[in-house]
Amino acid sequence: MTRQAPRRFDLRGWSAEDLANPYPIYRHYRETDPVHLGPANASGTNTWFAFRYDDVTSVLSNRCFGRGDTQFSSVVPTECAALRRIVSNWLVFLDPPRHTRLRSLLTREFSPQVVTTLRPRVAAIARELATAMASSPTVDLVADFAAPLPILVICELLGVPRQDRIWLRKQAMSLQQASSGRSGNYAEAETAACELSDYFRREVQRRRREPREDLIALLVRAKDRGGSLTDDELIATCVHLLTAGHETTTNLISKSVLALLRTPEVLGELRANPELMPVAVDELIRYDPPVQMVTRWAQRDQVLRGRSIHRGEKLVLVLGSANRDPLLCPDPDVVRLDRRPNRHCGFGIGIHHCLGSALARAETEIGLNELFRQLPGLHLTDEPVQFAPDVVFHGPERLTLTTCAGG
Ligand code: HEM
Repeated sequence: MTRQAPRRFDLRGWSAEDLANPYPIYRHYRETDPVHLGPANASGTNTWFAFRYDDVTSVLSNRCFGRGDTQFSSVVPTECAALRRIVSNWLVFLDPPRHTRLRSLLTREFSPQVVTTLRPRVAAIARELATAMASSPTVDLVADFAAPLPILVICELLGVPRQDRIWLRKQAMSLQQASSGRSGNYAEAETAACELSDYFRREVQRRRREPREDLIALLVRAKDRGGSLTDDELIATCVHLLTAGHETTTNLISKSVLALLRTPEVLGELRANPELMPVAVDELIRYDPPVQMVTRWAQRDQVLRGRSIHRGEKLVLVLGSANRDPLLCPDPDVVRLDRRPNRHCGFGIGIHHCLGSALARAETEIGLNELFRQLPGLHLTDEPVQFAPDVVFHGPERLTLTTCAGG
């Protein structure tokens, strides 16, 4: 522990230094108060935080902790009707049996086999972006590579025009930040929800006029054939895939580049053995996960490590801390390429385990290989990184690197 940890762990008011490295703070709580009572929320409900790997994984596998309709309704105001209609239909906020039905419609489309067929397109996009960067002496890795790659892949997957990507990204960010309580700009998020609903409704109608082979077409067929999907679920699922799939992957790519440039011996090993990239990507997700925390609500009174958590109370599972628990692996604060198996929880655990994990892994693996191949001189500047003011969806807003182009 290098810095003073706050007496109560709070998601607000983090300094730039702590955002850049939250791990000493997690370590403090993991060692001193692993199931910690944080400050109560505005309505007086208790919020707990779990920091140890075995507590985090046992809660995520325990159906007594779920969503129970509480997560989004506790943050999104009732007057934001369009936003609530979308977010209340997101897979990640549903409990069984609705969760099971909706997830089973999507599972096949995100399987490793389907992702394998997407790899050439992902590689072509990564190559195009890296080529564009190669002639500039300085680049912002976030704006020039890590942000455009995942949004272009999602556009391709959904079958929407790539020229819409900047607008889609902006709308999706504003909606996601409000739905997770990160921004209080609900008016902007409500407008984004209305505009995204209209956008995807038009895309659905287009698929009904001209059959296509993309993810929206697949969902339209599932709905029209069996009626197993409502109109609201169909639109909300398109928006969910758009939001869930890009910011997280952007952050994984940027934080992976940062970690590798800071550990040149690991980067050297990867350059010599590119076949180790899949192992490296999992290790980088463990080391610095883009989603640092997920939330559950107690559906019944429960006891966790001797602490009584009552029905209706909120429990935040700190994945970033669990992944650095020495009980998970030796030397948890070090990036190593010899962790097999690597049982990190960076993609979550249990029924909500990340649907897009195979896609995110492929994008990062292909993206990093392409980047280090085309820009072998890539290195950190003196002031390379500025982290976004968010400890949950965690990553840099900017990552300035020099490419050594032209010299
Ligand atoms: C769920 C992380 C990329 C779609 C999750 C969860 C985590 C996560 C931790 C579990 C949430 C919870 O338990 O509350 C990540 C990370 C990614 C990534 C770190 C990138 C590095 C993607 C991509 C997609 C995607 C590319 C799709 C295009 C989803 C969906 C869920 C989910 C739909 C909800 C699954 C369910 O509730 O059954 N993700 N994700 N994710 N992710 Fe990802």
